[in-house]
Amino acid sequence: MEDQASELKAMMHHRLESGVYQANGKVNANKTRIIAITSGKGGVGKSNIAVNMAIAYAQVGKRVILIDGDLGMANVNVLLGVSPKANLLDVINNRRSMADIVTDTEYGFQFIPGANGFSHIANLSEEEMTNFANKFSTLSTADIVIIDTGAGIASSVLGLLSAADDVYVVTTPEPTSITDAYGIIKIIATEMLENRPNLKLIVNRVHSSAEGKRVAERIITIVGQFLNYQIDYLGFVYDDVTVSASVLRQKPFLIAKPDAKCSVCIKHIVGRIEKTSFDSQEGFSRFFRKFNRKW
Ligand SMILES: Nc1ncnc2c1ncn2[C@@H]1O[C@H](COP(=O)(O)OP(=O)(O)OP(=O)(O)O)[C@@H](O)[C@H]1O
Ligand SMILES: [Mg+2]
Repeated sequence: MEDQASELKAMMHHRLESGVYQANGKVNANKTRIIAITSGKGGVGKSNIAVNMAIAYAQVGKRVILIDGDLGMANVNVLLGVSPKANLLDVINNRRSMADIVTDTEYGFQFIPGANGFSHIANLSEEEMTNFANKFSTLSTADIVIIDTGAGIASSVLGLLSAADDVYVVTTPEPTSITDAYGIIKIIATEMLENRPNLKLIVNRVHSSAEGKRVAERIITIVGQFLNYQIDYLGFVYDDVTVSASVLRQKPFLIAKPDAKCSVCIKHIVGRIEKTSFDSQEGFSRFFRKFNRKW
């Protein structure tokens, strides 16, 4: 099994170093940027931010794949108003290929549905893990892969975070959310010692830009003092009734109300991400290598 895994790894590195093969046999010279959206506390707005970021990216012409990385209680499909027949669990269990479960959406991006009631990806055998990570590499035709993770520190979440180029931690101004954001940042800072992802903060549900800045500065200061770790402030999203209204209608707010305050904030955030470079020299081979490590 060891041999098989290292053979596969070598093969992947070779393929990815020489460019990324697309289905039509052409080579995609662009590197895929892998963004993971996470939080310490649940319910802070990760999935809404992930879905609407995917739309904002698609609207500027990027090829985007949104992955519902929540293997416990996946619900991005609910936000999108679609009912997938198969999901990531079928890929993990080898019942489907990644291509089988990639779904086109009406919003110009592709979507990979998450699983319900499964949270033990860390217990996959080495062979299953290699197989799964290898299947992820078939997504390398995208410019941007956005992974919406479950909240907290399940090992499956850490596996996904460690494989991303950028990790965006979402918090609200509530003290409990701030404390839990610090908690997840601490885990990332202490457990991922090599090849740390770019860590940035998104403050959701603010009432003013000053509030967003204040919350972010508080976290950045504590993280700098106690963890000696540099994180940045990416941006904020206003508390806006448009968000809950769009959840109820199962229509993303960037589509339903492109000029609403929350939509403008998401477009700003995407604009800021695009201004920051990402250092991954490896693209998906990094994902492959890192996800393949057990957590
Ligand atoms: N900017 C906002 N303004 C107003 N309400 C918001 C905002 N962001 C999120 N909400 C509310 O919070 C709810 C939860 O959002 P969402 O499902 O995106 O959170 P989550 O972090 O993905 O949750 P989970 O941890 O359960 O996956 C939304 O249904 C909405 O009612
Ligand atoms: Mg969610």
